[in-house]
Amino acid sequence: MRFKKIVIAIDGYSACGKSTTAKQVAAILGYRYIDSGAMYRAVTLYFLDHHIALTNPKEIFRALTQINITFNVNSKNVSETYLNGLNVENDIRKMRVSENVSQVSAIKEVRTFLVDQQRKMGKERGVVMDGRDIGTVVFPTAELKLFMTADILVRAFRRQRELLQRNSMVDLDEVIENLVQRDKIDTTRLESPLKQAEDAIIIDTTHITIDEQVDEVVRLALAKTIVP
Ligand code: DC
Repeated sequence: MRFKKIVIAIDGYSACGKSTTAKQVAAILGYRYIDSGAMYRAVTLYFLDHHIALTNPKEIFRALTQINITFNVNSKNVSETYLNGLNVENDIRKMRVSENVSQVSAIKEVRTFLVDQQRKMGKERGVVMDGRDIGTVVFPTAELKLFMTADILVRAFRRQRELLQRNSMVDLDEVIENLVQRDKIDTTRLESPLKQAEDAIIIDTTHITIDEQVDEVVRLALAKTIVP
């Protein structure tokens, strides 16, 4: 039996389990995992640390020329985000970044800059990429497109637990507010708003476990990769 390499695009709301699923699916298939949200977070961290005015396109353009984002696999085989050679994996997950990332990712110049890099990363295929516009804008020809959703309370609990694992204690109310706010900005922005691609398969993760999610995506992927 022969298999071809495909692109798997996973889009959806924040904290629906996209990245957890994408990481495990990539490991099972021997694919590369690319967390496009981490790239928007890294740009946001740079803008915050360098006090870049989000309303000044010239300043933004200049700042983007100073940004180099890479992913490196650590000793536990986990992909981590680097900004200009520094490991920022922990910093980009903090509330300070979460509270500003939707505004930053609504900026046209930022999207053009990152979409270009994401396309290059997926050129060879054999990638699982998660985000908001992967199936609609970055890889409209992806062989498998998934759109993940889940109940807001379930998403908030999951995100709160993730923050706790990073030693950050945040009230559930604050987590919910941040998710609702980000959903609103992500779905209503002018540039590549979050929306389901017409040919995407919806996966509601409210009542299913991570293992079930992963099994389902691997099953769908294998069906697309077998060369008759
Ligand atoms: O997946 P995440 O929650 O880490 O993403 C952080 C933010 O980045 C999210 O609120 C919207 C933005 N984003 C985007 O606009 N496009 C993508 N492809 C990925 C993320």
